[in-house]
Amino acid sequence: MVTIVRINDVPENFGREVCVEGWIWQKRTQGKLIFIEFFDGSTFKTLQLTIKKNSLKSPHFDSLKNLYRGASLKATGKVKEDPRAKYNMEMSVVELEIFDTSTEDYDQLLPEGAGIETQLNKRHLVIRGPKTSAILRLRSHIVQYFREFFYSRNAEEVTPPTIVEAQAEGGSELFEIKYFKDKAYLTQSSQLYLETAIFSLRDVFCILPSFRAEKSRTRRHLTEYTHIEGEYAFMDFAGLKEYLEDLIIFVLNKVKQNDQEILDFFEIDLKVPQKPFPRVSYSEALEILQMKGITVKFGEDISDAPERELVNHFGVPIILEQFPVSMKPFYHKINLEKPEVTNSADFIFPNLGEVIGCGERETDLESMKDRMNKMDPPVDQDDYYWYLDLRRYGSVPHSGFGLGLERFVQWVLNLEHIRDTTLYPRTINRISP
Ligand code: 4AD
Repeated sequence: MVTIVRINDVPENFGREVCVEGWIWQKRTQGKLIFIEFFDGSTFKTLQLTIKKNSLKSPHFDSLKNLYRGASLKATGKVKEDPRAKYNMEMSVVELEIFDTSTEDYDQLLPEGAGIETQLNKRHLVIRGPKTSAILRLRSHIVQYFREFFYSRNAEEVTPPTIVEAQAEGGSELFEIKYFKDKAYLTQSSQLYLETAIFSLRDVFCILPSFRAEKSRTRRHLTEYTHIEGEYAFMDFAGLKEYLEDLIIFVLNKVKQNDQEILDFFEIDLKVPQKPFPRVSYSEALEILQMKGITVKFGEDISDAPERELVNHFGVPIILEQFPVSMKPFYHKINLEKPEVTNSADFIFPNLGEVIGCGERETDLESMKDRMNKMDPPVDQDDYYWYLDLRRYGSVPHSGFGLGLERFVQWVLNLEHIRDTTLYPRTINRISP
């Protein structure tokens, strides 16, 4: 019985006869020879199958002519190193079993240079290719590295509900749903529930979808994205920023250690930022932008283009901090020395923009109620009775963050558009497939 191996494990089997199972990615016929770039999903790399008419025991060589991209096969033969193959590995096939043929050449559905709408409509086929496979594999590894870091710092994973009664972030970006006789919302952030969980588990994190009814079409916005969020008891603002620097450095170092082949595939020379990341207050940012001829008034959002200018001025990820009270939701703690600003920050990455939003949480009940009343529109305190109870019964200093996984992956691979980082992107005009 010949051993079945994954293409990822082929190099350690060089010299042996093995069996591989996968799909045709490319096929080329040259007289009595067929070359197949064979893909099995265990790596973005393809194995070159070389099929010689005279060496093939079964099936008949001529029956292979109608095999298109996507046909699934089991191939047996000796594998060896071969610099002529795309990824330096080759199998001289002696036996083939066809699981299923591809009835049409789906290359024609997705010709080289197909428009973006065609590619998105055929995303279920696009994901079969080495490029998307490489992105999705890296994404999977990155999620694992985040988890590793959290557990190494004794945080526990929790799963708050994603169907919620009250909003966490801005009202205009809320998806409303029918919930039996009532209405409910899809969560924008699990932060408020994570805050409740620190009183049970001390340090917590979650990796869950968040939903934003984003009307803007940009290269970094999805309407459903994967939100990595953490909340930490007894952690102040300075401690939080350091924790997040450690987190970013840990994850990027892991990528460099374990995923260099994927980085090479995308020609990425990943630079891991050094601690401390530059800290830039919102007021300082306005001054820097003014020097560059861009005027942003105090209290206004720094929009995409100025934000990029700002971070590119430093050339490394920066911590943009101390946003005015008026710009931030009620839960951000007011800075005791400068009461016009909050202990909040965004981590801004070069060429992309905000990847993390974070801050220390307000713990004073009266101050929080006052800010809820001053929000536009005022926040209904009855909806938040449980959140306000946290401030009534033994509150402690605490801080937390939210990081957009897709934006992080987009930054690591320097991808033009966020939609490439996710299995089936959801945007303002796309909910299919
Ligand atoms: O800055 P945001 O809105 O912060 C919060 O939701 C906090 N409650 C999180 C917390 O402290 N637990 O969102 C956090 C991050 C952003 O920095 C960004 O990376 C990502 O979520 N994000 C999006 N990613 C993709 N598409 C969108 N529409 C996104 N909106 C936010």
